[in-house]
Amino acid sequence: MVIYFSGTGNSGYVAKRTAKILGDDCLDLFERIRSRDYSPIVSDNSRLIVSAPTYAWRIPHIVTDYLKKTPLENCKGIYFLMTCGDDIGNAEKHLKKLCAQIGKEYMGCAHFRMPENYIAMFTAPNDEQASRIIAKSENRITETAETIAKNEKLPRVSVNTVGKLKSGIVNTAFYAFCVKAKDFYATDECVSCGKCEKLCPLSNISMKDGKPEWGKDCTHCMACICKCPAKAVEYGKKSQGKNRYYCKINVE
Ligand SMILES: Cc1cc2nc3c(=O)[nH]c(=O)nc-3n(C[C@H](O)[C@H](O)[C@H](O)COP(=O)(O)O)c2cc1C
Ligand code: SF4
Ligand code: SF4
Repeated sequence: MVIYFSGTGNSGYVAKRTAKILGDDCLDLFERIRSRDYSPIVSDNSRLIVSAPTYAWRIPHIVTDYLKKTPLENCKGIYFLMTCGDDIGNAEKHLKKLCAQIGKEYMGCAHFRMPENYIAMFTAPNDEQASRIIAKSENRITETAETIAKNEKLPRVSVNTVGKLKSGIVNTAFYAFCVKAKDFYATDECVSCGKCEKLCPLSNISMKDGKPEWGKDCTHCMACICKCPAKAVEYGKKSQGKNRYYCKINVE
């Protein structure tokens, strides 16, 4: 069983590619997280594969919380697939700790460089650049799935002192100071379609008089700003003039 959380589709793509190679079921956690549904995940074999983006050099806190709250039936060990724009720092240490807490064997973590989606801080590639970045990760996705198929552990991720700091103290500071929704707003380009409200995995957006309003419960997944069909969502001045990114490649 492959489960995934994905704001802009990269981790969904890696999850679906992996599930297809392995012949495993593939489940999007979006609706479960949105509706706070912690009913058991039942694996079709003894392994569970979790695909998620990298947020401040770790998997998103909401995915960690979800895994702590959800009974994972039939599953003995967990593999992690992390998509990132650059690197995952010392994410592995925290994944091992999580597995120990929930009583599952840690089977390793593979990371895949995918297009950057964090337009509240950085810039995202255009579609052509994004396709090239994804193409470079294809072999690694296949090789990782083949290792998983043999029930072998994934190789250790090497980490230096900076990586340890990034996944530790910087991650804590990032959630405390940067992950806020107060800078989101809709411009006059908004066509009141309501898509952003439906997309938010935390139900943090509500339509008022035909326009979206953001509450305080946000994980900075970038779904609302990157997937608005009218490109009407901005994050203060930081997103202005920047490309919006979401993964447009379908897994056949
Ligand atoms: C809040 C946030 C934090 C991020 N932090 C990192 C990071 O620490 N390292 C990195 O390489 N990429 C980082 N990124 C980029 C994403 O991990 C990357 O684009 C990922 O593939 C997005 O996956 P998704 O399309 O499944 O949401 C961050 C993106 C967001 C939105
Ligand atoms: S998705 Fe964009 S156009 Fe649609 S309601 Fe939200 S801001 Fe407006
Ligand atoms: S408000 Fe936007 S960025 Fe924040 S969690 Fe919801 S969809 Fe993601």
